[in-house]
Amino acid sequence: MTDHYAVFGNPIAHSMSPLIHAAFARQTGQDMDYTALLAPLDGFAETVRAFQAGGGRGANVTVPFKEQAHALARRRTPRAEAAGAVNTLLFGDADILGDNTDGVGLVRDLMDNLGIVPRGLRILLMGAGGAARGVVLPLLEAAPRSLFIVNRTPARAVELARSFADRPGLAGGGYEDLPGRQFDLVINATAAGLTGDLPPLPDATFADGAWAYDMLYGRVTPFLDFARQRGARVADGLGMLVEQAAEAFYLWRGVRPDTGAVMRLLRAA
Ligand code: ATR
Repeated sequence: MTDHYAVFGNPIAHSMSPLIHAAFARQTGQDMDYTALLAPLDGFAETVRAFQAGGGRGANVTVPFKEQAHALARRRTPRAEAAGAVNTLLFGDADILGDNTDGVGLVRDLMDNLGIVPRGLRILLMGAGGAARGVVLPLLEAAPRSLFIVNRTPARAVELARSFADRPGLAGGGYEDLPGRQFDLVINATAAGLTGDLPPLPDATFADGAWAYDMLYGRVTPFLDFARQRGARVADGLGMLVEQAAEAFYLWRGVRPDTGAVMRLLRAA
């Protein structure tokens, strides 16, 4: 019997997840299918429950439903709890387990694909919305020297940093706090790239040999352009997308796919 999985979002037509999971399934010989399903903005939980009732085994959840998925899952992993959002659902007989694989996906992309070891680094995380929140705990667990969260609305960054109490080296603030500071890794978790905007970073933000990472993928954002012009090495979020999918696949199927092969496939497409 073929096992059924899906990704729920709105919009969802451009999701690459079906392609990624089909490639993982082929590669590992898993008998499963995976489709993209549009959930109405006011009907996320009903749409997921109908899929589960029809024999679905698990699902991914994307914008704008990750917080609703957090509420839908009766049981949640610690990393989903810290993220305040769920991107992966496992359907059990009695309940739904919610997990969040975004943060681990980012850290795996940094370490395994890009060769960036966060331990000891000065990290700047831009943004204080759901995308930023989802990666704070896994970044902290990778033991950077410091993690500064910067946001256009500084109070949100301060609040996000405070929600992870007693973490030395963790703080939040505004872009006006940045002059005079340098970072080894700057991660863009803002939505600025979607509108072609550049967050107001000082010219001297990047230390020698620094990396700039944008969670968006499939485009060179103004942030990556800015960083490259100032000597930083740059990466987009395609690797994070594939690695978060691989972690979800592992949770569902107990098998780890080869992400490198799938990244090459997507880059070529
Ligand atoms: P997501 O779930 O994708 O994180 P979100 O919760 O709407 O979405 O958060 C978007 C983030 O991008 C916020 O940190 C936002 O800053 P504000 O909190 O000040 O709104 C940030 N953002 C969006 N557009 C931006 C821009 N042009 N420059 C800088 N930051 C921007």
